[in-house]
Amino acid sequence: MPRERVAVVGLGKLGLCLATILASKGYEVTGIDTDEHKLELISQGKPPNFEPRLERLLRKNRDRLSVSMNYEDIKRCSISFVVVPTPSETSGEFSLFFVKQAMEKVGSIISKVRKYHLVVLTSTVMPGSMQNTVKPTLETSSGKKCGADFGLCYNPEFVALGDVVRGMVEPDFILLGESDKRAGDILSKLQRKLCNNSPYIERMDFANAELAKISVNSFVTMKMSYANTLAEICEKMEGGDVTKVTKAIGRDSRIGPAYLKGALGYGGPCFPRDNIAFATFAKRIGAQGDLAITTHEVNMRQIDRITQRIESEGVAPPFKISVLGLSYKPNTNVVESSQASMLAVSLARKGFEVHVFDPAITTVSSGVIVPALVYESHLLNCIRNTELCIIATPWKRFSKINKAEFKNKIVFDCWGIFDGLPKAKKYLRIGLYAPSA
Ligand SMILES: NC(=O)c1ccc[n+]([C@@H]2O[C@H](COP(=O)([O-])OP(=O)(O)OC[C@H]3O[C@@H](n4cnc5c(N)ncnc54)[C@H](O)[C@@H]3O)[C@@H](O)[C@H]2O)c1
Repeated sequence: MPRERVAVVGLGKLGLCLATILASKGYEVTGIDTDEHKLELISQGKPPNFEPRLERLLRKNRDRLSVSMNYEDIKRCSISFVVVPTPSETSGEFSLFFVKQAMEKVGSIISKVRKYHLVVLTSTVMPGSMQNTVKPTLETSSGKKCGADFGLCYNPEFVALGDVVRGMVEPDFILLGESDKRAGDILSKLQRKLCNNSPYIERMDFANAELAKISVNSFVTMKMSYANTLAEICEKMEGGDVTKVTKAIGRDSRIGPAYLKGALGYGGPCFPRDNIAFATFAKRIGAQGDLAITTHEVNMRQIDRITQRIESEGVAPPFKISVLGLSYKPNTNVVESSQASMLAVSLARKGFEVHVFDPAITTVSSGVIVPALVYESHLLNCIRNTELCIIATPWKRFSKINKAEFKNKIVFDCWGIFDGLPKAKKYLRIGLYAPSA
């Protein structure tokens, strides 16, 4: 029996992982992207983005994944996933520019085929987008009727960069907005084949699924800002230690321990913008999104707060400071909205000599790079060349540094990866009582 053929439109950080996993589960996959250089790398088995487990999986399943700039191959597929960017506009809403562009092309191909086709949007969109924009775009460009001639689903992902492959095959749950039962049944069947666990599939209409998607990230950011509020309190309360408080309250099943840690604030390509989109959407429809706004404000003040704490240690420019970690989280080279990067830049702008090291960032090509930062290619040199060391991203590798390397240095352990450093000149941690904080 011939294998089922599916298309993935948009082979970026998410789309390539999805295409590769589909191929690994036996599907014949057509990957489509507008970026020729990306396609060239993928066809050589080289993922354009750093993502653990992806390269091996891609090389192993390359024979079932063909890539192209041409949408025509969709004719041979029964399902098309669309995973293109939805960048944030200044209003806080997500742009549908790329989604519309891709849907118009998918629709024009559907118009030429007689068999039923299922279109699945994976990209994050604002509530109302599927019903008001995506569905009409497909109907107009295909000349066909959604629900009868083709099906449409919204199926966003909840994965984190650095954990995308595992996250896609072992999700906590699957969220599925569907145009009709037939469309939802087809996608549910595919998802069951894709997942190594048996997640609950929450099926519903488009608008509630769109709201549920951004609500998850908005809620998780609220938890992180709550933990950072506790950290601020603990720094001013005699004997305060945020790790003791969060560990205790996290045991309450109503709260849970995940993402409940006093540390640097959240960043990356999803958390900040999904939370802002949530607040923007609430405002647009006349509801109150003030929890999300406060969450954002708490997050944004962390950099100034930490910078001031460092200055309060009696160090002044051009004192040498090392910042370990630039990415917004471990196991990725993404620096978008990364508080580790923001902190390094903030200190450099104040005139400190800032040396930086990140295991996944070896070139001066990403957005954070400012000429004032000194890029170190060796972790220990980065520490040894400076007098104050900030551990800004909790890469596992940093927890294995010999503690003697920190002898006579001031250490600011933002993630509490060490439980004190006896030989350090001073050991500081976010959320630990500091009389002058
Ligand atoms: N990255 C994450 O952690 C994450 C997590 C959850 C949801 N999302 C959402 O998933 C979507 C995609 O995110 P990403 O991080 O994979 O983006 P990305 O920018 O890494 O990749 C998008 C890809 O789409 C391609 N593309 C753009 N227009 C196209 C078109 N018309 N036809 C074909 N290809 C086109 C681009 O060249 C690029 O390769 C976004 O809506 C994002 O919010 C991302």
